[in-house]
Amino acid sequence: MLKVEQQQPVEFSSALIAKFDEIVKRYPEGKQKSALLPILHEVQAELGWLSNTAMDKVADYLNILPIEVYEVASFYSMYFLKPQGKYMLEVCRTGPCCLVGAEKLMNHIEHRLGVKEGEVTGDGLFSWRGVECLAACGYAPVLQIGPEYTFYENLNEQKVDELIEDLRKR
Ligand code: FES
Repeated sequence: MLKVEQQQPVEFSSALIAKFDEIVKRYPEGKQKSALLPILHEVQAELGWLSNTAMDKVADYLNILPIEVYEVASFYSMYFLKPQGKYMLEVCRTGPCCLVGAEKLMNHIEHRLGVKEGEVTGDGLFSWRGVECLAACGYAPVLQIGPEYTFYENLNEQKVDELIEDLRKR
């Protein structure tokens, strides 16, 4: 995580606040804390990651303590506590995917992007990491890309190269 003093102040857009309001309405009066997970997803989708300053603002909005936000955000691996590339390639590294080449694929991605796991490419476009089973073992090896969590299955090095080139053109 970036040190707090290195983090930029955050302003949530009115559109984002309107989404928060909609989410909070799903829960009973006084149970606004239940909206924390979907709200963190919205913040991450807009900002790319969850800085302390962003989490503090979420705490303010929900009228809860900042630590209540930090403990949730740091528990779930789908929340990023440091800046990531625009596209985070999450490669399944669990047994069945490894048996059909997941480790080779991760080595290939590292070489192809020129960054180690968890780092960001110089153009800000890509990060990658290994994750646990994505529940698509029958289509291994598999990777997903957030924030929509689109799946790419039956991968090989050539398909990964094509995917990276497609993403660059978006
Ligand atoms: Fe890779 Fe299940 S082991 S999707």
